[in-house]
Amino acid sequence: MVDVDVSGALPFLSEVEQDKARQQALKAFEQVKHGSGEGAEWLGWRTLLESPNDAILEQISSLAQAIREDADVFILCGIGGSYLGAKAVIEALGSFFPIKQDLEIIYAGHHMSGRYMDQLLQYISQKKEDGSPKSVYLNVVSKSGTTLETALSFRSLRKWMIDTYGEESANRIICTTSKEGGALNELIDEFGYRKFVIPDDIGGRFSVLTPVGLLPIAVAGIDIQTLFYGAVNEYQALEETPDHVIQYATTRYALHQKGKAIDVIGSFKPELHSFGNWVQQLLGESEGKDGKGMFPATTSYSTDLHSLGQMIQNGNRNMMETFINVNEATSGFKVESSEKNVDNLNYLSGKTFHEINVKAYLGTKEAHIDGGVPVVTLSIEKLNAQHVGSLIYFFELFTAIYVYCLEVNPFNQPGVEAYKKAMYQLLGKE
Ligand code: PA5
Repeated sequence: MVDVDVSGALPFLSEVEQDKARQQALKAFEQVKHGSGEGAEWLGWRTLLESPNDAILEQISSLAQAIREDADVFILCGIGGSYLGAKAVIEALGSFFPIKQDLEIIYAGHHMSGRYMDQLLQYISQKKEDGSPKSVYLNVVSKSGTTLETALSFRSLRKWMIDTYGEESANRIICTTSKEGGALNELIDEFGYRKFVIPDDIGGRFSVLTPVGLLPIAVAGIDIQTLFYGAVNEYQALEETPDHVIQYATTRYALHQKGKAIDVIGSFKPELHSFGNWVQQLLGESEGKDGKGMFPATTSYSTDLHSLGQMIQNGNRNMMETFINVNEATSGFKVESSEKNVDNLNYLSGKTFHEINVKAYLGTKEAHIDGGVPVVTLSIEKLNAQHVGSLIYFFELFTAIYVYCLEVNPFNQPGVEAYKKAMYQLLGKE
């Protein structure tokens, strides 16, 4: 289970403030549990775990295995909830550097850089060392099937696939979209592309445990059964004993009511940088409505202590901080001893980087609390598929509870339409 430590935030809240917020969080949890809150038709991310569909997990795993055996490159074309979850898990559990012979995952459709597309097409057109062409598979993910960034990139990539592989391209293109409607479904019908369905009752940012996230994650070689069942275990545990998630929701809500405007969400594990981006979208799109919500900022430590550390330590006291911790070391890499000790680092000889990093975390936490920043720490035991699965569900449930505390619908995103409307007008769309 995800462990929650709010002791670094409680000194900033009175007992009355905590009690009031706790009542609101308990009420919000009941709303999620009984589907009685606004947007309850979007709770499919819970039913998914209540009654796991092993057949779909199996189907995704075997397709992913077949792709892994044949592909050099797998392109995931999607934006927002259609790619952030997969990227978060792949980076959390994958390798920092490409391993020779392993297939490469490339992201596309998440912005409108022509330079990126140009270079991507050139890159996938390059021959391998032995002179043979690269074997490329393309997974386009779009629930609406109409998102401009994704649709534009998919148009160019699909053309490249057809030019390169001819009829065989149909076997190499996999579409993940809603059951019906949208331009993507029309292309699927016309060209016979393989299709995975995104359930109607699951919004993009809650969809990482559907084929949206699971196919790319499985293609990256990660055990999706373990990931999924890690989330199932967390679901079951929190239905029984929701104390931890209620504590976090209570604390964050109380701090929000006290005027905190920013939650700096950071980890001392650089592998979790993209996980922070997934959390950022999950929270930002869910809570930022009706003039409410905290801005979810993401940081990667200790890197960002050398850029944002000053701001967090001494800047405007309008922020709180959430650390995401992993207890167990991910490597035993040690500091070597040096005979002459010119760099004066021998006092650290024999220690692991992990041990030093833990001290950096503890020191940072202490300094930030002293500097007036309330701190919450969320910890998982190990950085593996099971615990990352737990963390995913923990954040999904937390988001729903906390946003209900704000008396806001967590599951819609009406504000996202505003820029699209203005952009389409400028582009002259009918
Ligand atoms: O969470 C969301 O709903 C959004 O971030 C969407 O995932 C994103 O806008 C992409 O939408 P679509 O999958 O329809 O292309």
